[in-house]
Amino acid sequence: MFATMIESPVVYNKANPFLASLTERYSLCQSGSEKNVSHVILSLKGSNISYRVGDSVSVFAINDPEVVENTIKYLQATGAESVTCKHSGEVYTLRDYFTKKSNLADVPRKLIAEICQRQTNAEKKERLTYILSEGQKEALKEYQGAHEVWDALLENQEVLFSPQEFCHLLMPLLPRFYSIASSQESVGEEVHLTVAELVYETNGYTRRGVCTHYLCRLAPLHQHVIPIYVQASNEFTIPEDNAAAMIMVGPGTGVAPYRAFMQERLVRQASGANWLFFGEWHRDQQFLYGDYWQELVEAGKLRLDTAFSRDQEHKIYVQHRMLEHGSELFSWLEQGAYFYVCGDAHRMAKDVDAALHQIVQVHGKCDEASAKEYIKKLKAAKRYLRDVY
Ligand SMILES: Cc1cc2nc3c(=O)[nH]c(=O)nc-3n(C[C@H](O)[C@H](O)[C@H](O)COP(=O)(O)OP(=O)(O)OC[C@H]3O[C@@H](n4cnc5c(N)ncnc54)[C@H](O)[C@@H]3O)c2cc1C
Ligand SMILES: NC(=O)c1ccc[n+]([C@@H]2O[C@H](COP(=O)([O-])OP(=O)(O)OC[C@H]3O[C@@H](n4cnc5c(N)ncnc54)[C@H](OP(=O)(O)O)[C@@H]3O)[C@@H](O)[C@H]2O)c1
Repeated sequence: MFATMIESPVVYNKANPFLASLTERYSLCQSGSEKNVSHVILSLKGSNISYRVGDSVSVFAINDPEVVENTIKYLQATGAESVTCKHSGEVYTLRDYFTKKSNLADVPRKLIAEICQRQTNAEKKERLTYILSEGQKEALKEYQGAHEVWDALLENQEVLFSPQEFCHLLMPLLPRFYSIASSQESVGEEVHLTVAELVYETNGYTRRGVCTHYLCRLAPLHQHVIPIYVQASNEFTIPEDNAAAMIMVGPGTGVAPYRAFMQERLVRQASGANWLFFGEWHRDQQFLYGDYWQELVEAGKLRLDTAFSRDQEHKIYVQHRMLEHGSELFSWLEQGAYFYVCGDAHRMAKDVDAALHQIVQVHGKCDEASAKEYIKKLKAAKRYLRDVY
């Protein structure tokens, strides 16, 4: 007798990511734009991965070869040396380890301390001793914010490390999350992302975000080499009730999940009304998915309010548009609308939250405490949902 073997499906997660292939990428910005946001399409073919709108994808990028070569050079190594990963015990060449495993952007305190200890130049040692001393947290933060690993080494060429001991002083390269910008009902075995390329300058050098540079520039097309897994979101998704209305606030890349939400609402032929507040710098340069939103507006499927912050002298943000339409927004909430916020956590989400409180207070004709209570109830009913980062 043969026992029937039932193969269980492969589960892809942080420890066992799927190797996706990048099939398409294009800029969502017009020429002349001072920033770039790319639409990136990854193929999930052969994975059986399924996702829901509102989920995120976690991507393991590799470091920019230029940064890897600089780090090898200023470590005064060749890159061909063997090193062992302290977590897995696996053996790599130094070049491979720097490429795939090490965080080469952040300079850990323990690395600075080790450089300081070994530094023979009195002036440099004194400076490092100062930033490491008690009560100088700000100076340390400033040093770490200004340097990547390679220029910390460059400024301390008197100090020597063996490749192995140096690798132990670095932090690991971690995956980055991206909101899914597609509905699987609509795109099948693909997942779409909206990636804002990060480029900035510190210590006189141009720096590039590891994963955004990888996805927008470095990753090869049509090769199954990008390790990913889906990070499920339990609550940040469209209402089960297709008749429920949605108010979506998403400036910048915060708009990504709403493309997925709308694709899915169309597939479901959901009757609920949809209202999007979108913001970016300039209408003619960074109106992300502008044509898609306009089509939906024309088809009567979407209400759209935009806030292009740099198209006039004074800043106009999404929360200003919310306040302008406060009375209607409040009546949507009163009729059971879901309220979503996605994007920048540091400033935008706080200001949008304050605007929401103000709207409830003014149009609900209540005091501050009652407005707080109203919003607390919205949250408890899972009708005020945020995905902020
Ligand atoms: C749930 C979730 C969803 C997300 N969704 C999206 C999305 O849809 N699209 C998207 O683009 N991003 C999204 N992000 C952010 C994303 O995960 C990454 O953090 C982002 O893309 C930057 O990654 P990176 O590897 O390119 O940059 P990194 O290499 O990680 O660099 C980022 C670091 O650079 C430094 N830095 C940045 N700007 C400056 C500056 N001006 N001066 C000095 N230092 C600076 C800071 O130390 C910062 O921590 C999401 C994050 C989360 C948690
Ligand atoms: N570390 C940083 O300094 C920094 C800076 C920006 C973004 N980020 C991060 O970079 C990622 C991607 O950002 P993004 O490109 O999606 O867009 P974004 O930088 O969040 O910008 C999108 C729009 O939001 C506007 N905005 C700025 N402050 C706001 C506020 N308080 N309330 C409402 N709107 C506001 C911006 O206007 P203006 O830019 O004209 O003010 C712009 O029009 C996010 O993770 C974000 O947190 C980091």
